[in-house]
Amino acid sequence: MNYQWYPGHMTKAKRMMQENIKLIDLVIELVDARIPLSSRNPDIDELGKNKARLILLNKADLADDVCNKEWIAYFKKRGFHVLEINAKAGSGIKGVQGAVREACREKIERDRRKGIVNRPVRAIVVGIPNVGKSTFINSIAGKACTKTGNKPGVTKGKQWIRLNRELELLDTPGILWPRFDNQEVGRNLAFIGSMNDEILQKTELTIDLIGCLMINYKKELAARYQFPEEAETPLQVYEHICESRKCYKKGGEIDYEKGALLLLDDFRSGRIGRITLERPEESA
Ligand code: G4P
Repeated sequence: MNYQWYPGHMTKAKRMMQENIKLIDLVIELVDARIPLSSRNPDIDELGKNKARLILLNKADLADDVCNKEWIAYFKKRGFHVLEINAKAGSGIKGVQGAVREACREKIERDRRKGIVNRPVRAIVVGIPNVGKSTFINSIAGKACTKTGNKPGVTKGKQWIRLNRELELLDTPGILWPRFDNQEVGRNLAFIGSMNDEILQKTELTIDLIGCLMINYKKELAARYQFPEEAETPLQVYEHICESRKCYKKGGEIDYEKGALLLLDDFRSGRIGRITLERPEESA
């Protein structure tokens, strides 16, 4: 299947990012903990060079806990500050302030040496669509924050959310574009629902997903849909899933489309289990 992204939006998004990144000290990059590489765009490393960097493994609640720890180690080894969070439930958010301070230690020291005190760190939240940027901003900002805009030195119209004396966030997150040139990346994004499902062949997507899940999560699949151990191909498993959930058409034949929707929804909501589709050792 050919996985497409909307390249038309790329140039605009990139221009916005270039403009906004000039204003900030710290890039807070959200990635999806289930596919931490496919859900980031490597260009952010170029755009964000000379800035402090913090990666948040978001949706950590949906990802395999062991893999979350491995991914944290992976990014730390590459010089990033990293935290796992669940922006929706708010877990891990408390650690963000400490991580920001750590990531910006050099800037804070530099300011102090120059006699600049009480200048907050300015940060932008970036990530591909649907990774949880707005949820994170809402979660960290809560209700207690104040918005400040049109300060001297701030581009007119830009809004800053003052979280506390130490940290201000640009209120509009930066949208990154995924690496649409790579089919595997496209497929991973389609699995987690970050592509428009309407344009995808859901039955083919489902067979691909089952194939991936069978590598490391066959036990979880079998437990949820109670298929026999001898089911060996993704198609066999697919049929068992349809049968176990009574996905039939009127005449009694298997309704693959219905089975696909059911499985994709179960997977995306974490009902099959906490699953990570990309592993650091495969990308070392
Ligand atoms: P974006 O700004 O980057 O585009 O993403 P947004 O915050 O809109 O989040 C996209 C979806 O991901 C939302 O679900 C949101 O609730 C969910 N989400 C964000 N962070 C987490 C997380 O840490 N864990 C989990 N499990 N989900 C998260 P939605 O289906 O669009 O809305 P809703 O059903 O939650 O209302």
